[in-house]
Order: sequence, then C-alpha cells, then structure tokens
Amino acid sequence: MSLAVIGGSGLYDLAELSARRERRVMTAWGEPSAAVVSGRLGGHEVMFLARHGAGHRFPPHKVNYRANVAALQALGATAIVGTAAVGGIGPATGAIVVPHDLIDYTWGREHTYSDGSQATPQHVDFTAPYAPALRAALLAAAAHAQIAVIDGGVYGATQGPRLESAAEVDRLERDGCTLVGMTGMPEAGLARELGIDYANISLVVNAAAGRADGPITMAEIERELAGGMNRIRAIIAALAAGWNACTR
Ligand code: HPA
Repeated sequence: MSLAVIGGSGLYDLAELSARRERRVMTAWGEPSAAVVSGRLGGHEVMFLARHGAGHRFPPHKVNYRANVAALQALGATAIVGTAAVGGIGPATGAIVVPHDLIDYTWGREHTYSDGSQATPQHVDFTAPYAPALRAALLAAAAHAQIAVIDGGVYGATQGPRLESAAEVDRLERDGCTLVGMTGMPEAGLARELGIDYANISLVVNAAAGRADGPITMAEIERELAGGMNRIRAIIAALAAGWNACTR
C-alpha cells in the first residue's frame, strides 16, 4: 500500500515531507493540477498533490480529477486521502469529520474513466464510497495524535463555485447530508474505478447556508482554514507513521 494525499483548500503542500522530489506527470486524461511531490513522512514514502494547483488556480468544477487520480496511480498510489474544507450542516465549525458516505450533486464534470473508449463500460460498486480500512486508519491516526474527529458523516458534493442557497442546504439536510463541499466528487468515484482505496477528511470551516446568521464570508472560511489545517496535517503525519497497520 502506498499512500497519497490530495490536498484541498488550505492544504497546498505537505511541508513535513523530507527528501522531497517533484514529478510532473502527463496522463491519458491530461495534466494533473500540479506536480506530484513525494517524500518521507513518518518513515514511509508519501505522495502529495495540490487539488487546486499552484495559487488555487483551478476552481472545483475545473479541476482535472481524472488526471489527478490517474497520475497518482501511475506513480504507485494504492490509497488516497482527500482533504477538504466544507460547510457544516450538523457538525460545528472547527470540527474534523471522516465521512462514511456521500451524495453527488455535481454535474458536467468529467467524472469517469469509463467514457466509451473501452470495450465494455465499468459499473463499479459504490455502496461504501470511502474505503472502510482507510477510514479506520485515519480514525486511529487521529486518536493517536489526540485530535478529536467525528467518525461518520455524509458528504454532499455540490457544483460550486458559488455557495448554496439556504433552501439547497435544507434539501441536502433532508437527503441526509451532514457536510457540504465542492470537490468530493468525482474524485472518490474515479479512485474506485481505478481500484484505489480512498477516504476523505473534512474540516468544517463555516456553518452551511442558512445555518448561521448572515452571509458566509471568505474571511471566516480563511480564518478557520488557518486554524484547523494544522490538525489535519498532524493526523496525516500520524497516518503515515502507522502506515503498515493499514491493510484492506
Ligand atoms: N458549501 C460548499 N462548499 C464549501 C462550503 C460550503 O458552505 N464551505 C467550504 N466549502
């Protein structure tokens, strides 16, 4: 098992990686968002890819998810942890959540490798979109690092880049979503298509639309990102350190 991290908003690099090297990879699906950085973390080789590219170049609907996941696989990744900044429908701002399920509300994204170029379409099982063993390893890493996380949640993936209306969040809540973000899909589905274990770890950076007084501001999101991402970094470091323990 070889671990890769796709860093979302607020996680543009894993500075903790030592003996770093950068590789630019071209895939059949185009260029990934950025060079893949590899290095040692906790005694293991870990890869890192910034989902939104340098300087947050790619908004959620413009990320080349297919190239990102394919590039990591080409470099040997067998497990991917995707980090995300999300709105909270249930969990409070500042909470870290390891969701167990998702609902995809995105549209118009290149969301599959099974695009007609193969002889037969692939209908992968997606009953449990997040790999249970990788989720368990993340939860164990958080416990080891003594960082509180919420075990379980439903990630609603919206199209963005605008935030939701209050009624849209009402609908997500009725559907069972506890988190709302813009990048959780198609990333998880593509990893499943390639047979890569995938899990998400989300930091709640604001109360979702209609769940707090007034509008959601970028200033509040950035403040929460600055305060919260260090906890996600620490969980990733603990995950890497205990990496041998994670088996399917
Ligand atoms: N909605 C969707 N995506 C987000 C949010 C939100 O409220 N906060 C951070 N990413």
